Amino acid sequence: MAEVIAIEGGRPLNGTVRISGAKNATVALIPATVLADGPIDIYGVPEISDVRALATLLRELNCEVIIDGENIKIDPSHMKEIPLTSDAVNKLRASYYFMGALLGKYKRVTIKMPGGCYLGPRPIDLHLKGFEALGAKITYEDDTYYLEADELIGTQIYLDFASVGATINIMLAAVKAKGKTVIENAAKEPEIIDVANLLTKMGAKIRGVGTDTITIEGVEKLSGTFHEIIPDRIEAGTYLIIAAAAGEKVVIQNIIPQHLESLISKLKEMGVHMDVVGDSIVVYGGVKNWKPVEITTQIYPGFATDLQQPLTTLLTQAHGVSHVKETIYIERFKHCEQLNKMGASITLGDATSTINGPTDLVGARVEATDLRCGAALVVAALMAKGVTEITNVYHIDRGYENIDHKLITLGARVSRYEISE
Ligand code: EPU
Repeated sequence: MAEVIAIEGGRPLNGTVRISGAKNATVALIPATVLADGPIDIYGVPEISDVRALATLLRELNCEVIIDGENIKIDPSHMKEIPLTSDAVNKLRASYYFMGALLGKYKRVTIKMPGGCYLGPRPIDLHLKGFEALGAKITYEDDTYYLEADELIGTQIYLDFASVGATINIMLAAVKAKGKTVIENAAKEPEIIDVANLLTKMGAKIRGVGTDTITIEGVEKLSGTFHEIIPDRIEAGTYLIIAAAAGEKVVIQNIIPQHLESLISKLKEMGVHMDVVGDSIVVYGGVKNWKPVEITTQIYPGFATDLQQPLTTLLTQAHGVSHVKETIYIERFKHCEQLNKMGASITLGDATSTINGPTDLVGARVEATDLRCGAALVVAALMAKGVTEITNVYHIDRGYENIDHKLITLGARVSRYEISE
């Protein structure tokens, strides 16, 4: 048996939806807490399965973890140094943040190769080069990494690509290293700033986050503190697209609009009507004579690769030909085949998709091949004629808090049930 989300399309959405804390910040903030010597309270934690998997890993490390709705208290005071080789590591890619955090804390770590969405090859060579530059010796055997350093010594690290994961992981290892670490060509995503903010509150000395060059002055001790997570810009972007696709008047609350500038300007270029009001955005859907647009995914503040997938669904309804060019994950196009099953007309080229619109979408059984493919299919289902059944729901639950409930509150018809495989 397998679980599906079933959505009956064509119902106009109205009302308010509140955006949760940022998944991609949370999945780094939680491993970062192990660096502290006292308890850390984090507020605004999204209720998603990635958080539950990280809590399992923390408990394996003998951290005390109390989850109370959107708040989590983590006390690493009585941590034990053990290898992270359980199945929980495989559940999400971000378990690799325990590499940097535990290396920083204990100067050694054993961890299985992390899992996560398949978006084409996802190497971690830049993370490893950073750890080696700080003094770690690394071996890899039977799907497991062994990292060990006599001591970590600050140094200058140039990233060949401004990788989100490598920037955060190196930061986590460097905050307790001896001396000064400089990360050049660092990534600038808001989630990195959020992680640096927590580390700074814990006592770390970090300058330059949000620029190309991050400087970290190692400290000996990091302490407990509290932190509130920034809103999830990708969840927010997904609901902006949902509201444009199927909404009449939808208010999306708890947004930092600057984090979404590239999406907002593309939606405006398409002809979507919206107003930014403080930390909310009001989207007026219903007008469907959208113009086609050209999208090229870029590192932040460019157009986010994670939003390319749900926006593609909207582009199936634009009048004319749109193009999407992927520069971050060149194979991130699995959603296109699923959308074509529902009536879209998308052709694939070298790291590009060409979307011919408009075409009617019709409900079908489709597969969420990865998290944001799932989001793209939810957008399609809300617009399609009839019922769409989306399989591999666990991908969606990894990153979207209570998506069924949020959509039902807006007036969508959503249910879940089991089907035989
Ligand atoms: N890369 C390397 N070597 C490395 C690291 C990255 O070649 O050592 C390449 C990757 O293969 C990819 C590019 O660099 O082609 C970008 O990777 P990056 O490290 O920036 O991404 P990530 O840290 O693996 C995070 C998010 C992704 C998001 C990307 C890009 C988390 C847990 N994941 O991944 O989010 O797409 O940044 O912004 O923060 C998602 O939320 O659905 C998701 C996949």
